Amino acid sequence: MIKFENVSKKYDNGTHALKDINLTIDKGEFVFVVGSSGAGKSTFLKLMMREEVPSTGSITVEDTDLTKIKKRDIPKFRRRLGIVFQDFRLIPNMTVFDNVAFAMRVIGTKEKKIRRRVPYVLSLMGLNEKARNYPQELSGGEQQRVALARALANNAEIIIADEPTGNVDPQMSYEIVDLLMRLNESGTTVIMVTHEHSLVRCFDKRVIILDKGTVVSDGGALIREAATSHINAVSEVSNEYVVPPEEDYSAYTQSRQTPESQEDSEPLEIQEDFSVAGGDE
Ligand SMILES: Nc1ncnc2c1ncn2[C@@H]1O[C@H](COP(=O)(O)OP(=O)(O)O)[C@@H](O)[C@H]1O
Ligand SMILES: [Mg+2]
Repeated sequence: MIKFENVSKKYDNGTHALKDINLTIDKGEFVFVVGSSGAGKSTFLKLMMREEVPSTGSITVEDTDLTKIKKRDIPKFRRRLGIVFQDFRLIPNMTVFDNVAFAMRVIGTKEKKIRRRVPYVLSLMGLNEKARNYPQELSGGEQQRVALARALANNAEIIIADEPTGNVDPQMSYEIVDLLMRLNESGTTVIMVTHEHSLVRCFDKRVIILDKGTVVSDGGALIREAATSHINAVSEVSNEYVVPPEEDYSAYTQSRQTPESQEDSEPLEIQEDFSVAGGDE
């Protein structure tokens, strides 16, 4: 469980990025965080991964109180998170395989385990064929899937994705969210920031809407529709709002399987803890 209690964040230059945030995200939830540019979305995620500290209030992630965590315990805490950024952040002179393996090597994983695990997470992302390629040889969508594979390499409990679809085309955006959904269905908590309301509408999940540092809406489909029209209404009168182009995702939603229909189709082989069968020693 992730818990924000009376959290405010004021940067040193005086910007009040978040104001009195109170919310809880349960283990295993899928949450979209939406809001226009500058709303505080990235700050919200940075606080959650202890990249920033709140000015006031407290943040707990599972058993860890982030306002009390010792500096030396932060790297260990971050290993429990899988983090994905808009700009992929792959290492250009490493192959796809090594980019994913790197995340495991830095924490001292044995090569034997890496050789088993990396092809497995690459296969989950449909990237087996690309293991020997370099990032610049891949499309944006493929690079983002490598970043996702890397985020999964160490069995992340929580996937935190900051605008992961910001640099990929609409079809791949849809597929990336669909992959995140499937990881979530196997138990991983997913928190995804986006400013694309049209993408969020394709998936019936909790949506937290931030506006100028405050939560203006938090809930499922119905609340979301109301809030979206609120945001759109505000967009029309304020230049501060960047109105995102509305992509038409309806064509992709038809291929999205509902949990019921998945029963009689080919299941994706994700084990509960993302381990390869017999892989952990
Ligand atoms: N390191 C920083 N120092 C000062 N101001 C910042 C910093 N990071 C973000 N901000 C400001 O905080 C506000 C929220 O930013 P951010 O969380 O990045 O919003 P979003 O991700 O929704 O676009 C913005 O006004 C931004 O300019
Ligand atoms: Mg941001």
